[in-house]
Amino acid sequence: MKQVKVLFVCLGNICRSPTAHGIFEKMVRDAGLQEQILIDSAGTGDWHIGRPPDRRASAAALGRGHDLSNLRARQVCPEDFRDFDYLLAMDQQNLWDLQALALPDFKGHLGLFLDFGNSGLKEVPDPYYGGEDHFEQVLDLVEDASSGLLAHLREQLD
Ligand code: 4NP
Repeated sequence: MKQVKVLFVCLGNICRSPTAHGIFEKMVRDAGLQEQILIDSAGTGDWHIGRPPDRRASAAALGRGHDLSNLRARQVCPEDFRDFDYLLAMDQQNLWDLQALALPDFKGHLGLFLDFGNSGLKEVPDPYYGGEDHFEQVLDLVEDASSGLLAHLREQLD
């Protein structure tokens, strides 16, 4: 059985990447592909290691039926380039930070998550210093790109 491992990456791993983690994981489960598509998330920064998602991100996600309460923040590490096939950054700075960390023999996909979406945006804006509407925008962008990512991975797994 083919398997693909996806890591969502943002700065703190408490707002954007756990939102993507929770939403994409549910989408994969609903599609019955949970044995084939494995998901995790991490942050480039270390400030929030071990903490649950930001309460504003959790509340916004719960409003759309996604429970993020089991997730805990961790920091991305070089081994992630050995363990994952897709490392998907939420913004350009996250991508640059990942490129600086990448193992030289990494053969997977390192890129921006929103390249799989149809919003026309390249980055999921950081909602940390924003208001409720910023967290709703994160959900909109993540839902859109998650659909595109799932369609792409289905083709890889066929
Ligand atoms: P995230 O948001 O990268 O989407 O998890 C942030 C969380 C924390 C901070 C910045 C962004 N911070 O500066 O602590």
